[in-house]
Amino acid sequence: MINATTYTARAHTNIALIKYWGKKDEDLILPMNSSLSLTLDHFYTETSVTFDEKLSDDLFFLDNQKQDVSNVSTFLDIVRKKANIQSKAQVYSTNYVPSTAGLASSASAYAALALAASKAAGLELDKPSLSRLARRGSGSACRSIYGGLVEWQAGFDDETSFAYPIKMPNNFEICMIALIISTNHKKISSRMGMKRVVETSPYYSNWVESSKKDLLAIKKALAENDFKTFGEISEENAMKMHALNMSAHPHFSYLEPDSIKAMKIVEGLRLQGISCYYTLDAGPNVKVICLKKDVSSIVNIFSNSFGHEKVLVASSGPAAHLI
Ligand code: ADP
Ligand code: DP6
Ligand code: CO
Repeated sequence: MINATTYTARAHTNIALIKYWGKKDEDLILPMNSSLSLTLDHFYTETSVTFDEKLSDDLFFLDNQKQDVSNVSTFLDIVRKKANIQSKAQVYSTNYVPSTAGLASSASAYAALALAASKAAGLELDKPSLSRLARRGSGSACRSIYGGLVEWQAGFDDETSFAYPIKMPNNFEICMIALIISTNHKKISSRMGMKRVVETSPYYSNWVESSKKDLLAIKKALAENDFKTFGEISEENAMKMHALNMSAHPHFSYLEPDSIKAMKIVEGLRLQGISCYYTLDAGPNVKVICLKKDVSSIVNIFSNSFGHEKVLVASSGPAAHLI
């Protein structure tokens, strides 16, 4: 089939409240535990894909710079196999999120690539199939196919491991304030970090058990419109993930001194009666979970300590879509 039509997709990043941290199948990207996230309006990736039989190799440009194409090609091979085509592709992508800094660029990246590449290859995938495809690029990407609150059911094989949306309680106007502590590329990618933890942390099996309980408890808190418990579980789950990293061999941590400083500020705000909680992914940047009514007071305090340009306010974002 000759298909030189270009498709462009936009997908938003998501930040996990119950984290995915460890694979039981590294090739298929099947996680050890189910996870739950919030898709964010403020951060996203736009990706255009054109399959062109005149190309002799895949090409990948990120933010107007030519990149090593190997990871993207491996992903495109999965799409080509499903669509039964051989053509190489041009991929142009722009991140409206810092890359490789613990702000989930791989989630928005592979959700956008899955949507644009599957359409450009002539596939019409339903949402569960699109989520499964995005998962093959980066696990967290399977959740960015949907907007709002999203659960990734771990499943046990390729067919059963995908994400779906979870109902947002009516009175929950959740916001996430991102404090940008560093946009340097992390030294240990999420992929390497979680692999080392699975292989060496003596606490890994406890993590799997405890995150299963956290997921049940956070869904109960959502069903009961209980923001306080929702926030507390999110914060604790994130700290358990970071504790795993410190217990790995060789041990490592994504936290920077300013991460700790920000976490202490959040704990102080709670003592003043403001309901806010922190989470951090595989990077030093702190995300503060709060309700819309408290955003301006929290932003003020963070701006005073870190500078207002470091403080970005996000709320619930949309599903991946073609543009
Ligand atoms: P992050 O915290 O940003 O998700 P990860 O370590 O999970 O960091 O993933 C970073 C990987 O995602 C890198 O290999 C990077 O090249 C890739 N990536 C980031 N943005 C894009 C994009 N727009 N298209 C394709 N790959 C991307
Ligand atoms: C800490 O999805 O980036 O953000 O599947 O290896 O590409 P790969 O990893 P990735 O890991 C995300 C880890 C996390 C937690 C989460 O998003 O659930
Ligand atoms: Co990532």
